[in-house]
Amino acid sequence: MANKIRYFIGNWKMFGNQHSLGILNRINKFLNKSRYSAKKKKIIFCVPTTLIHSFAAKLKKSRILIGAQNCHHSEKFAAVTGSVNASMLKKSGAKYVILGHSENRIQGDTHQMIKKKIKSTLNQKLIAIFCIGESLKEKKNKKTFSVLKKQIKSSLDKNFNFRNIIIAYEPVWSIGSGKTPNQKDLSTILHFIKKEFVKIFKTNALPKVLYGGSVNNKNINKFSTNDQIDGFLIGGASRSSKKFIDIIVNYYK
Ligand code: PGA
Repeated sequence: MANKIRYFIGNWKMFGNQHSLGILNRINKFLNKSRYSAKKKKIIFCVPTTLIHSFAAKLKKSRILIGAQNCHHSEKFAAVTGSVNASMLKKSGAKYVILGHSENRIQGDTHQMIKKKIKSTLNQKLIAIFCIGESLKEKKNKKTFSVLKKQIKSSLDKNFNFRNIIIAYEPVWSIGSGKTPNQKDLSTILHFIKKEFVKIFKTNALPKVLYGGSVNNKNINKFSTNDQIDGFLIGGASRSSKKFIDIIVNYYK
């Protein structure tokens, strides 16, 4: 694992204002001076739309990249009050966009909409963080694999530039619940996602697959030895510089 790149992506959800820049400044300071800076890793914070432009400008010379949390599926102007599209995010300074998060699927995002969002994100040369995951009910009914397969198949297209797509496996039951899958199940699932992706799209390139759901500074250690994991999508624990720094420290311990 020493040489493999790892992603640590914060998902702030509906958190943060101009003063929250201090959190990212503290994390950046840590990244600059710590011995962990030699490890290959990417640090990305997906902040609310209100903060993208100013944070991206202020962190331009830092080790932190700024991302968005969603976009509208219409690539061009549309009369949709309150929405932003991928081109607007790009111009604001975002480099990544989270798409298909279960919290947005619950609000009505369909496979087709997510597919359009990914397409417009890629057209803007942004990197899509495509979230997939089963609900508790689907897990109990042993539907995990079929759900993941459907999500991958229905929202990706063989013509997409796969190098700019990162998959985030986030079981819905683990988000914000403190529950995480056991490592054996997780390995099997991540291996399945990579294998299915290669099979469906007839590509040789294995996708990068992150794990997300209740990752924190206390449980990160158990993920360290899991070589299927290319990184983490971190919600709650990314809102504290101390917790986020401890996640990195404990991961590489
Ligand atoms: P959590 O959220 O770390 O708070 O569980 C993860 C996410 O929703 O991306």
